[in-house]
Amino acid sequence: MSGKENAQRMEKIVSLCKRRGFIFQSSEIYGGLNGVWDYGPLGTELKNNLKQYWWQVMVRERDDVVGLDGAILTHPAVLKASGHVDTFTDPMVDCRTCKARLRADQLAEKNGARQCPNCGGKDLTEARPFNLMFQTQMGASADPASIAYLRPETAQSIFVQFKNVLDVSRKKLPFGIAQIGKAFRNEINPRNFTFRSREFEQMELEYFCRPEQGMDLLAYWLKERIRFYEEIGISRKRLHVLDVPEKERAFYSKGTFDIEYEFPFGRQELEGVAYRTDYDLQQHIKASGKPLDYFDEETKERFVPHVVEPSAGVDRTVLALICDAYDEDSAPDEKGKMETRIVMRFHPRMAPIKCAIFPLLRNKEALVAKAREVQALLRPHMNVFYDEGGAIGRRYRRQDEIGTPFGVTIDFETLGEKGEGLRDTVTLRDRDSMKQERVAIKDLPQLIPSKIR
Ligand code: GAP
Repeated sequence: MSGKENAQRMEKIVSLCKRRGFIFQSSEIYGGLNGVWDYGPLGTELKNNLKQYWWQVMVRERDDVVGLDGAILTHPAVLKASGHVDTFTDPMVDCRTCKARLRADQLAEKNGARQCPNCGGKDLTEARPFNLMFQTQMGASADPASIAYLRPETAQSIFVQFKNVLDVSRKKLPFGIAQIGKAFRNEINPRNFTFRSREFEQMELEYFCRPEQGMDLLAYWLKERIRFYEEIGISRKRLHVLDVPEKERAFYSKGTFDIEYEFPFGRQELEGVAYRTDYDLQQHIKASGKPLDYFDEETKERFVPHVVEPSAGVDRTVLALICDAYDEDSAPDEKGKMETRIVMRFHPRMAPIKCAIFPLLRNKEALVAKAREVQALLRPHMNVFYDEGGAIGRRYRRQDEIGTPFGVTIDFETLGEKGEGLRDTVTLRDRDSMKQERVAIKDLPQLIPSKIR
């Protein structure tokens, strides 16, 4: 695809997200809050499906991982020890012509000279470090002792609570602590829709191990995480792994892989899988004076564990799911004429709505009553949507556009008007093939979930 086609594709995706209620600009009626987004009804379902699936495979299906739900407000000492207060910065420059604040590493260059991407101006200030953390005030007095931070990553509460979690869970190395939650970064230049936001969510695992296991576990987690993206329906051909060169890694990291996705705006990071050694625990031991070590009952050794960290962005993965799912093909309209169909090909596991239920006609009481019965039957098993408005073809199109994988239509056969053999059967339509099969209503609660898993 050319750059222009990719830009058009992205425009269509952003417009669909608003039109169908996936993602809205936050505080839109007041002009919007830059780099902050609200998820609409469908976006919320999609995001929840992603987080639940991550939690399922990373925590519930494993014996060696437990969960944590840490606070967002963070003690400054935690972030001083972790290095965030002193070094969590991006280089910033100002354009003296249009007054834009810019990230120095994202400037355009023309004939070797730095240029403002907004106005093309070349009169730029020197780069200076800009700390990305959001500071706030705790309590009524506004003195330096009342400073707290909104956490810039979920990881730090895991390190700080390492000993408490170890004591209560009685896990043996290697074991992990997982967390899903909000993080905040005052990005200089939020951009590419939700890709770089100021408020976002992370899904992080800190997997503690013996030092000699670190490199093998780094390779293990990279494989596991790639498998995860495939399982949620992201095409493997659009996923890439970047082995981050030593000079670009954090100084304490012995190896980092970025899992990248080919967005319409370019190949960008979805997740980092990093071997962070024992850096974080050592920093907190030094700063707090508290022991955050591990005693191996078998070898009688006491040591500070090392850690491998797969750290994924919820919002970036939701955006990748949306970009990967967006497709256009053609389908016949009411009169049999072919028209363009927008279809979101979400994996059924991720789809916000699993099954739509349609009575063929809204003004036939018996059809509506039967459709409501089917809705009540399926509701305990999955997220369903009842729709009786408009021609059936239009209703199919509306569901295709939001990626609903299955549609059930209740028609006159269902009522037994075309023979007793078909009574209490419905048509089950597949979003991708648009093929329909006739199935018994009583089989739906098993049949549809078997196609979702
Ligand atoms: N604990 C390690 C850590 O936070 P990171 O690479 O800075 O590492 C991890 O962040 C993931 O969080 C990224 O791969 C990305 O998916 C997500 N992320 C980071 N900054 C983000 C932002 N401004 N907007 C959306 N997602 C972001």
